[in-house]
Amino acid sequence: MVRQGGKDIEEEPPATLEEIAQAIGACRRCPIGCNGTRAVPGEGPARTRLMVVGEQPGDKEEQAGRPFVGPAGRLLDAHLARAGLDRARLYLTNAVKHFKFVPRGKRRLHQSPTAGEIDICRWWLDSERRLLRPQIILALGASAGRAFLARTPAVGKERGAPMELADGTQLWLTVHPSYLLRLKDEVRAREEERFQSDLRGLASSLG
Ligand code: URA
Repeated sequence: MVRQGGKDIEEEPPATLEEIAQAIGACRRCPIGCNGTRAVPGEGPARTRLMVVGEQPGDKEEQAGRPFVGPAGRLLDAHLARAGLDRARLYLTNAVKHFKFVPRGKRRLHQSPTAGEIDICRWWLDSERRLLRPQIILALGASAGRAFLARTPAVGKERGAPMELADGTQLWLTVHPSYLLRLKDEVRAREEERFQSDLRGLASSLG
């Protein structure tokens, strides 16, 4: 059931990832979907054991129409590779499919989605998950964690060890790479090592 225009509408769940990629472009269930930006679909093989979930596409992702292609994506790619996780073999998506921003001159500054916006967009994430049936999900940051736990997790306390979702899927939680990009010097080096250690824990669980 989906609430649209003040009414509850029965909606058939999408049958393929391509259908989801098509349909999110027309989604107007929340204010972000109405902001005129392009929706960014998930990317990766339909048969995968690992689903990695970020918060929402950024400026670069909205322009390219692909997830994690900007600075945070490059940092994520480097850490995935170091942990022995091949980006081409996992499915990468976001909790929210449209880019939320405030305009500042020629720039578009990222704005975090509200809990309500994440909860509305969960319908798409659940549809992706139903089709992919990953063994492990990695949630990057609190917004992605909320999309699976239906509460905003304390990432610092809950990261680095698996949680079990109702259907038996393992959920791993860690920080978002954008957070790492905002840190400096030794703090950044230390936090990147923690991030890497979280990914290695997940990689060994994946086998
Ligand atoms: N940050 C995200 O959470 N997702 C992206 O796709 C890019 C940056």
